[in-house]
Amino acid sequence: MKRFTILGIETSCDETSVALLDVDFRTKVPKVRINKHVVSSQIDIHAKYGGVVPEVAARSHVPETVSLLTSQLKKKDPLSSFDAIAVSKGPGLATALRVGVQAAQTLAWTSGKPVVGVNHLEGHIASAWLVPENRKRWVFPSLALLVSGGHTELVLMKDFCRYTVVGSTRDDAAGEAFDKSAKLLGLGYPGGPKISKHAEDGNDEAYHFPRPMIHDPSLDMSFSGLKTAIRQEVGQGARGKEQGVSYRGKALKDVCASIEASIVDVLIAKTIRAAKKHPVKSILLVGGVSANKRLRSDLSTAVRKELPGVLLMKSPVGLATDNAAMVAAAGAWHLARGESHDWKKMDAEPELDL
Ligand code: KG4
Ligand code: ZN
Repeated sequence: MKRFTILGIETSCDETSVALLDVDFRTKVPKVRINKHVVSSQIDIHAKYGGVVPEVAARSHVPETVSLLTSQLKKKDPLSSFDAIAVSKGPGLATALRVGVQAAQTLAWTSGKPVVGVNHLEGHIASAWLVPENRKRWVFPSLALLVSGGHTELVLMKDFCRYTVVGSTRDDAAGEAFDKSAKLLGLGYPGGPKISKHAEDGNDEAYHFPRPMIHDPSLDMSFSGLKTAIRQEVGQGARGKEQGVSYRGKALKDVCASIEASIVDVLIAKTIRAAKKHPVKSILLVGGVSANKRLRSDLSTAVRKELPGVLLMKSPVGLATDNAAMVAAAGAWHLARGESHDWKKMDAEPELDL
């Protein structure tokens, strides 16, 4: 297929999302247009529990998936709205993934159209491809810094759909470090955007948090020690009160800026190290944490300084966190190669690797 409209479905965690992506591969630089796109977040539902509750997520995805599909597909002849289907089949929460996968299977069966089970992480990588400027200059080999709530990986990409993970976290993901720190500070869920907001006017040298493994020659990372250091600092700051809640005003801004700096410094140091070890022509910054302003600007500075001539391509801020447009984009890469799956054999794969 060279030109098609692809229906994307995303239900791997706490966002239900549906997209219709028009893709035309007949030109040298493919033409891509997000025709329809809707993301329905469950943040309000999970915020009161301080994190995502898998069963609640799955149960909420069911009516939401049906409602989003009903609103986005044509009223008269819904199955004529798309030529192919792409769905996140993993990694993610098993029961949540299953909702999207079963919706995709049903649509594939009833429409007779091809379906691609997409690796959600590949979806994050493909989010950068949704930027026209990036598509024009897209060049391999590329190194992706993929930073989300569940994953922190350095991925070498020799071509579309061809990945080798060259580095990753040994324990917590960067997003998890943001979320757990925010929880300790009483900022609620999800923590990344909240820490990042408070950090904007903070002094990042006010507190010194460790940069775990930053000088280690490997491309591995570790963020759980950072969490312990933050817990110790926050515990001290609370002086016997409930953990962290005593941080207000300037102290809160400073502690958030210092936490953000320690996470961002490690991510950047490891990305630069990886790009020097595995020479690449481009760097991709993708995943929910790639919405972080400081990470975006510090990585730009570092690439300019340390990797002259290497192109930096970022996911757009609005498509950094989970969404169906990125899933459709990754699906498009596979369809363009003539790859699709048998819907009868498709299943959620919660532990899927790249
Ligand atoms: O990619 P994503 O939407 O979900 C997963 O696939 O895990 O990433 C969610 C993660 C959360 O940990 C959230 O706190 C983090 O991305 N995040 C941020 C920012 N926006 C979202 N972290 C730091 N700064 C942000 N602005
Ligand atoms: Zn994600």
